[in-house]
Amino acid sequence: MEKIVIEGGHRLEGQLPISGAKNAALPLMCAALLTKESLTLHNLPHLADIKTLASLLNELGSEISYQEEGWDIGSGQTATIATGHITSSTAPYDMVRKMRASILVLGPLLAREGEAIVSLPGGCAIGNRPIDLHLKAFEDIGAVIELKDGYVRASGKLTGGTVHFPMISVGATENILMAACLASGTTIIENAAQEPEITDLARCLMAMGAKISGIGTSRLNVIGVPALHAAEYTVMPDRIEAGSYAAAAAMTGGELELIGQKLPQVMMGSLDILKRAGLIFTETDRGLIAQLGAQGKIIGINAVTQPYPGFPTDMQAQLMAMMTLCDGASVITETIFENRFMHVPELCRMGADITVNGSTATVRGLNKLLGAPVMATDLRASMSLVLAGLAAEGRTEVNRIYHLDRGYERLVQKLGACGAKISRENAANI
Ligand code: UD1
Repeated sequence: MEKIVIEGGHRLEGQLPISGAKNAALPLMCAALLTKESLTLHNLPHLADIKTLASLLNELGSEISYQEEGWDIGSGQTATIATGHITSSTAPYDMVRKMRASILVLGPLLAREGEAIVSLPGGCAIGNRPIDLHLKAFEDIGAVIELKDGYVRASGKLTGGTVHFPMISVGATENILMAACLASGTTIIENAAQEPEITDLARCLMAMGAKISGIGTSRLNVIGVPALHAAEYTVMPDRIEAGSYAAAAAMTGGELELIGQKLPQVMMGSLDILKRAGLIFTETDRGLIAQLGAQGKIIGINAVTQPYPGFPTDMQAQLMAMMTLCDGASVITETIFENRFMHVPELCRMGADITVNGSTATVRGLNKLLGAPVMATDLRASMSLVLAGLAAEGRTEVNRIYHLDRGYERLVQKLGACGAKISRENAANI
């Protein structure tokens, strides 16, 4: 097992390329199952989750060929996914357990084959995360759902219908959107999630021949078509990765140019909060420069996680790391997941002053953090510890970095190129 070792206290400065968004890339790859023809995706990030989903698609019958585009700024890998025949309609437990986003094959398989069998994802580190909203929505457009032996079997011919989500779910919106494209009638999705990754998916589906209106709103209208066709699409930049590095710039008193097309548009929610916390952003022709404003300090603020365009839960841990160094105090409330404060005890081991009461954390700002060996239990929590380590006095070791490999491409290289003293080293088994 490897660990990340950081010698803290070095100012970050330079250009930092933002990779393709993991949370856009995963549903886009699943959308390839909807057509017999090929889907070519550009700017796919090199991440463990992408590999895991590629293996699952292979099991279902997809053939994937990769064309490396190198490591230049703004370029990821290109993959062409062709699924002439679905050879299996089952997503097994081992795959779904590794990565919850595997349930996004359910909609495409059901729509194309009339049957999908997918393992129930079970619990996860940041909360229960059931899939009831996905299943109810499939029933609403004509599917029959059966649960047996830890698996869900969805079957039937999709007719379309009205889906009204009682609460906003990113994954359920994506799953039903994909399935509805091949239904025999029209589907209306009310209270749909509006995250930019859903807009990315809808645009790709349109390029494949789908008929979708209301894109970017909470009411999507999908007129089913008999088949989708080949297309090429470029994955949007990762707004969470960009927000994380903006926090790194602020916490080290630095200045980073985050390179990525349309970052200012897709980062709504994060930008508002980060600006209130004292950052300023300057648009450039290639992205955004992030740095602290003239006051030269991080300002304590209150923040509540919300569905887009609100402040994203995927930035909550990183904001909290930043607030440990704020002027004054900060109150952060998590409303999306019930167990997403697991970074708190680890940040406290680095000297942070944080008290948790239910879904609210009060962070009292300090002048400095102290390096320490730490360990995290999920992806964004791991990033919060890296951020704390970059700003802390002394040496920080972040263990269990397989979480980071799931969602941050070339983290050590990107930060190292901007002045961080950071490396990957072998760790004793932990
Ligand atoms: C996606 C993102 C994840 C992000 C989350 C919220 C991907 C691959 N993952 O996850 O990084 O943190 O959106 O922005 O894009 N819920 C139910 N029943 C369901 C589905 C969800 O109760 O059937 C609940 C969840 O437990 C959670 C809330 O709804 O409390 C939101 O979850 P959801 O938006 O579905 O998150 P994911 O799509 O899993």
